[in-house]
Amino acid sequence: MKKRVSLLGILSALFCFSCSQGNAKSEINSDENKINSDMNKIITQINTAKDKVLVVYFSQAGEQYSVGVIKEGNTKIVADYICNYIGCDRFEIKAEKNYNMSYNDLIKVAKEEANKGELPAFKGKIENIDQYSTVFIGGPVWWGTYPQVMFTFFKEYDLNGKTIIPFTTHEGSGLASCVEDVKEAYPNANVLNGFSMYGHDVRTGEKKVIDWLKGLGF
Ligand SMILES: Cc1cc2nc3c(=O)[nH]c(=O)nc-3n(C[C@H](O)[C@H](O)[C@H](O)COP(=O)(O)O)c2cc1C
Repeated sequence: MKKRVSLLGILSALFCFSCSQGNAKSEINSDENKINSDMNKIITQINTAKDKVLVVYFSQAGEQYSVGVIKEGNTKIVADYICNYIGCDRFEIKAEKNYNMSYNDLIKVAKEEANKGELPAFKGKIENIDQYSTVFIGGPVWWGTYPQVMFTFFKEYDLNGKTIIPFTTHEGSGLASCVEDVKEAYPNANVLNGFSMYGHDVRTGEKKVIDWLKGLGF
């Protein structure tokens, strides 16, 4: 009887020991997983911040909806906030044709361009696009997407394989179909969710832009 009791005792002690070992092991494993995931997040953030970054944008000064006649286009102001904060190169898509006209005329011209799928030419070029691994793409929403001249840019520059961060300024449509259209233009790029801001808010919106950039790890 004595022998049976002590055997049972030993077995239950062994069982408890192995349970506590198992618990300790799983705690260590979950700590290790958490550390690994935190490390990966930090590495991703450092890499994002270290990338050579380009901001490509189109923006139209002059008469604009809700803000009247403006010297600097709304999207340009957002592009400036981005570049001032992260210190990147920039390329402004400037159309060969002249869009300096009244807002009412411009919406007619833009609608016709969009309906016809026109690809208006733009000025200038980017030296060595390969040096950039992250490209912000920004523009106003014109009739539900980016202005047609930006699609000319998409045709001329292959950004597949890069991280693309779309942004828009608008007066109610948000990102509209801009992110989907960028994804369609660059099916093999890593296109992030995108960011949008009302055109009439950009002049007081620097903090919002910086908070967004911080959220991306810049
Ligand atoms: C031709 C044209 C079409 C527009 N279409 C839209 C639209 O579909 N949805 C919207 O929310 N805003 C629309 N807007 C408003 C602009 O997106 C908004 O004013 C933007 O901030 C202008 O940016 P920019 O000054 O950088 O060009 C349109 C403006 C213009 C001139």
